[in-house]
Amino acid sequence: MKRVLFALLVLVIASAFGVQQQKPQPGNLKAAMTRGKTVYEATCLACHQPDGLGVQNMNPPLVKTKWVLGDKKALIKIVLKGLQGGEIEIDGDKFHNPMPPQESTLSDQEIADVLTYIRNSFGNKASLVSMGEVKAVRAKLK
Ligand code: HEC
Repeated sequence: MKRVLFALLVLVIASAFGVQQQKPQPGNLKAAMTRGKTVYEATCLACHQPDGLGVQNMNPPLVKTKWVLGDKKALIKIVLKGLQGGEIEIDGDKFHNPMPPQESTLSDQEIADVLTYIRNSFGNKASLVSMGEVKAVRAKLK
């Protein structure tokens, strides 16, 4: 009997740990930031620069813009579909490079991580972007 109780106890403790790991925790931000930084460096940095300040007349800054800090669906759509034709204007400056679409190069998780990263770097502070949110926008755009 004692053995059964002990086994049960171990099971309860183990499952408590399992449940805890699935809960969204502040630690998730740190992990997403680390992964997002890797994606940023490989995919976005060449244009938007290490400090997120972009390049005048070519690539816009990612510092406190309404796209970076604003509606997450619109932001996800920019990364999935790209942009061209100088649609973006920041402080009277327009940007003449095309922003390449990433729908076939980045996974939902990578897009969520890189957007969480830019929303919490370069002086920005905004909520996390989840994989589910990217998935939902991607499904609608098809
Ligand atoms: C080849 C250069 C290039 C790359 C690579 C690139 N972008 Fe862009 N990005 C641009 C340009 C140019 C625009 C503006 C396009 C326009 O106005 O038509 C833009 C616009 C944006 C905007 C909206 C405007 C703003 O500054 O707030 C965001 C957000 C953004 N890019 C994020 C990213 C992220 C995240 C990545 C990496 C996954 C990335 N970009 C990769 C060139 C690039």
